[in-house]
Amino acid sequence: MHIGNQMKSVLVVSALLLLVGNGFILYKNYQTEWRKYQQDYLKLAVEKTTDASLRKILEGRSPRIEQIVATGFGRERVDRCITCHAGIDDERFQTAPQPFRTHPKMTGHHPYRTFGCTTCHDGNGRGLSVSDAHGEGKYWTEPLLQGDTIESSCAKCHGYDRKETPRLRAGAELFLSKACYGCHKIEGVSNGKLGPELTRVGAKWPLDYLEESIVWPRANNFESIMPIAEVSKEELRALTVYLKSLTGENLIRGPVERFVEVKNWKASRPAEVPVTAESGRKLFEEKHCNACHSINGSGGKIAPDLSVVGLQRTREWVIQHHRNPRSLVGGSAMPDFSYSETELSAIAEYLATLQKLETDNAAIYTAAKPIPERLLHAK
Ligand code: HEC
Ligand code: HEC
Ligand code: HEC
Ligand code: HEC
Ligand code: HEC
Repeated sequence: MHIGNQMKSVLVVSALLLLVGNGFILYKNYQTEWRKYQQDYLKLAVEKTTDASLRKILEGRSPRIEQIVATGFGRERVDRCITCHAGIDDERFQTAPQPFRTHPKMTGHHPYRTFGCTTCHDGNGRGLSVSDAHGEGKYWTEPLLQGDTIESSCAKCHGYDRKETPRLRAGAELFLSKACYGCHKIEGVSNGKLGPELTRVGAKWPLDYLEESIVWPRANNFESIMPIAEVSKEELRALTVYLKSLTGENLIRGPVERFVEVKNWKASRPAEVPVTAESGRKLFEEKHCNACHSINGSGGKIAPDLSVVGLQRTREWVIQHHRNPRSLVGGSAMPDFSYSETELSAIAEYLATLQKLETDNAAIYTAAKPIPERLLHAK
């Protein structure tokens, strides 16, 4: 059969196109991000190596995927971060550019071979491009933790009371003093019922969602009854780091110990107290009622002022209101704390003594907080 010249050139051109196309795909596969970082690392390592035989070995090495399989802490982790962060435990890389720089010194002995990286940094251990590994994908709930936010991981093994993690400790304290605990349950900490349980909230949401939930609860739910907490920037950071640490697991102690701890906590009941105004006043402090209520100018401004509540409400009303705020005030955002019978009476005694306004009421009520500017323009 005779093939015309025109047909010939069509065949040649398509063959060429196929070759170029395949070659491009091959090249793309070969020239992946991790390979480039490995090559750069090997170059640097050769420069820094003085021993001739070691140099020879390094020069002969081709780029490869490096990984740590950490099995000692919770679920198995396959962390390939050291494919790019290859100088992490090499003192000679102190001044090298990222990702090759030596890991900053930290207190405590946490060898990388045993701990891996994602135990502290989150991110996606199996990722081999910068954006995958650093967990920048839209649906990845564990983007890279760094800087002060890394403290949230320390809690998974060390709890909340260490001097090395000041933000975490402050956050745990603020959860009580800002009365978050009155509405939210965290196993082992609090029993609030009005809001969603937060025992595992840190495993569910990334940092910015958590932060947003605190500064502007209506961003995620327009009908939110969650009050807008009065917190400074520092306090907000601490609360966010604390919430991020809540994953419902402890990587050191194991599930059985945690189960027992939670069981004991569930069985505990509020203590009985003397029924006096003085012990009621103490309870008012301990339960942080003043996170929301003011008395004579001091305290929060997101709930009614209680300076003269003793003139307005009977003891019976107060007790019933504490048992179940919504039985008296429809849609009330007052939390249901758990109280013993004597605690209820003591609080009623204390509130009955509040009968005199000592400050100018106008100073107590300020205008409602405006929507934070940055959220008005949020995507
Ligand atoms: C494909 C290569 C690559 C992989 C894999 C990789 N990284 Fe990185 N990493 C980089 C580069 C490049 C930088 C520096 C510039 C940047 O942040 O993009 C960096 C920066 C960092 C920083 C410092 C951020 C900063 O702003 O200084 C941390 C922390 C970090 N990586 C942790 C990790 C962890 C943890 C993993 C594994 C889950 C990981 N990386 C996997 C390439 C990588
Ligand atoms: C996966 C669990 C785990 C994580 C996460 C973790 N650590 Fe540790 N840490 C340990 C273990 C286990 C030891 C004990 C090592 C030893 O004694 O050889 C330790 C020891 C320490 C010590 C010194 C010994 C001590 O008990 O006082 C300090 C300080 C410390 N860690 C701080 C931190 C900080 C800060 C973070 C967060 C950046 C952190 N750790 C994250 C498991 C962890
Ligand atoms: C025990 C917890 C822990 C482990 C495990 C850990 N890191 Fe870190 N890492 C830290 C802390 C704490 C810092 C200092 C905080 C900061 O400045 O981001 C840090 C800082 C870094 C930085 C520098 C960030 C900067 O801004 O300079 C990089 C990069 C990094 N880690 C990568 C890794 C890689 C890769 C691994 C695994 C081989 C790893 N880390 C394992 C706790 C840890
Ligand atoms: C008066 C009750 C109340 C108080 C007090 C309260 N919350 Fe909430 N919170 C809610 C309710 C209800 C929701 C459910 C969503 C909504 O309606 O906004 C919520 C939602 C949240 C969420 C989102 C949870 C998720 O999974 O989407 C977080 C995080 C949160 N609150 C944190 C806090 C913190 C931190 C504080 C203390 C500063 C606090 N809350 C105080 C009632 C409260
Ligand atoms: C998260 C914020 C918050 C906290 C914490 C809180 N309350 Fe309230 N409280 C409210 C809100 C909102 C109302 C108004 C709705 C209602 O009356 O139920 C209210 C109403 C009241 C009233 C009725 C006021 C009136 O005259 O109508 C009393 C009394 C009261 N709270 C006492 C307390 C005491 C005592 C505590 C601590 C044990 C406390 N509250 C903690 C939010 C809070």
